[in-house]
Amino acid sequence: MSKLILAVESSCDETACAISRDGREILADVVYSQADMHALYGGVVPEIASRKHVEKISLVAEQAVRQAGIKLSDIDAVAATCAPGLIGALLVGANFAKATALALNKPFVPVHHIRGHVAANYIAFPELEPPMTALVASGGHTVILDVVDYTHMEVVGASRDDAAGEAFDKIGRVLGLPYPGGAALDRLSKEGDAAKYPLPLAIIKDHPYDFSFSGLKTAAVNLIHNAQQKGQEVRTEDLAAAVSQTVAHSVVPRVIAAAKDKGRKRICAAGGVAANSTLRGLLERECEKAGLELYLPPLKLCGDNGAMIACQAYFEYMAGNIGDAAQNCYATMPASMQVCQFENKL
Ligand code: KG4
Ligand code: ZN
Repeated sequence: MSKLILAVESSCDETACAISRDGREILADVVYSQADMHALYGGVVPEIASRKHVEKISLVAEQAVRQAGIKLSDIDAVAATCAPGLIGALLVGANFAKATALALNKPFVPVHHIRGHVAANYIAFPELEPPMTALVASGGHTVILDVVDYTHMEVVGASRDDAAGEAFDKIGRVLGLPYPGGAALDRLSKEGDAAKYPLPLAIIKDHPYDFSFSGLKTAAVNLIHNAQQKGQEVRTEDLAAAVSQTVAHSVVPRVIAAAKDKGRKRICAAGGVAANSTLRGLLERECEKAGLELYLPPLKLCGDNGAMIACQAYFEYMAGNIGDAAQNCYATMPASMQVCQFENKL
């Protein structure tokens, strides 16, 4: 019997609901993006995000059910992202999903957002199965995972401070680009010369799989400010190329080393920054050289979406990772933890 999962994603500024069948097939995928509103403030305003989720979540879910052409009673489980993310935003989606599960008398499945990003690859590549090494690079996280199984993963390395996406967005903002700046910097980088502005790699000495993007961010921002003080022009295209290349050269060798270290034969990428063309190009070249299979999801599955949560929710459901009535949400949580077993240590 096939399993239908309705999943809600509300960890940041997108109110999303998707319905999956047996994990790999997406019957509905509805997103209401708040990005334009937050762009007015140059970044996500948590309180506005929570309030917009409250306004939109019911409509988005109703639309998803209509799009899938199913009845609510056909659904086997209701899922929601419960960690990590903006806590107020997460609570809106999780409470909506818990209430829906209760009304339907179906299980509630809490999902880890980062695991969801990895699962975007299962939608894009129906033949892909763990084990594998995953790079998740987004606005909030930059992490290398050893994906042992669909619901078991180990954090091999992570950023100790800012995420790669945060660095792109901050540099974009200082350059006067609209928020979020990552995609715009990527476009501009194609016309630029990365060699014009040498920047420090976002790596940590003696920690072969960890990152630090705050130094790169500060170096780029200082470069812009110094030039402005001297009345010199910074060529945006060249700086965009330098930032993209520095991020790619910081991340790719470490992901490949992690795969080799863990004896994995395949690498997948995910998260908004995995849409970056320089990063994708370098991953392609280096994986080919290293004899590793590479899985790069299409751009629309890299950024936040509900489909990836509905896909991961199926695997969590099949593994028996069901939340109880007291299931809470958490702003931070390593992807190695089972969300349904995580206890608030506060
Ligand atoms: O995964 P995502 O949609 O949301 C989070 O979970 O954070 O990632 C958003 C991040 C933003 O920082 C955005 O600037 C960045 O992904 N991003 C990119 C590109 N497209 C989106 N960064 C670099 N190059 C891109 N093409
Ligand atoms: Zn995300």
